[in-house]
Amino acid sequence: MGIQITPSVLNADLARLADEVARIPSADWVHVDVMDNHFVPNLTLGLPVVESLARRSALPIDAHLMIEDPDRWAPAYAEAGAGSVTFHLEAAAAPVRLARELRAKGARASMALKPATPVEAAATMLGELDMLLLMTVEPGFGGQKFLELCLPKIRRARELVSAAGLEVWLQVDGGVSVETVERCAEAGADVFVAGSAVYSAEDPDAVVEQLRGLAQG
Ligand code: DX5
Ligand code: ZN
Repeated sequence: MGIQITPSVLNADLARLADEVARIPSADWVHVDVMDNHFVPNLTLGLPVVESLARRSALPIDAHLMIEDPDRWAPAYAEAGAGSVTFHLEAAAAPVRLARELRAKGARASMALKPATPVEAAATMLGELDMLLLMTVEPGFGGQKFLELCLPKIRRARELVSAAGLEVWLQVDGGVSVETVERCAEAGADVFVAGSAVYSAEDPDAVVEQLRGLAQG
């Protein structure tokens, strides 16, 4: 599939969500961060907003669920029209069953790991996943500093995916910018979430193209 750029609208003007998405036509996906104030100490948006955006957005939706009880809620995001649904391993009661359910509902099944969760925790179920999201900050807020300690994890994940002969995309999320994107790509990531780096710019679409160029090397 190659390099993909998935801007996060967390730091966009959420009162103008559809317009903000229209400002990034070069992006491959739009990354929507769902937070419940339990799994992470922040509250953002949920199902009705994702459902509305799915109808208005020209880009497919990459829903990142930072919520408790994803077993109960994640399938509804697939039904709401998200093309990819990411749940956290740390929150899921039955991650294999949940990944299968997401695929059965027609979404790409994706699982996220917080920075301290070892990649090995996902190794047995890579075949059930379309994407593995490695958080490169503690989830909850945009604009945090990239955690360098995650780079060996990205490398390890790439090794595991290659060794298994799988097509699992490796997404990085948190502190991804023109300063850090090359190192992530070099370590083996191929899908890049960038929030503040994109939306703090005057021309967000130009940053999308710049990140893509840097990641392609
Ligand atoms: C953080 C979210 C990220 C966030 C990234 O918990 O999952 O998607 O929007 O923002 P930046 O790119 O500013 O770190
Ligand atoms: Zn995210």
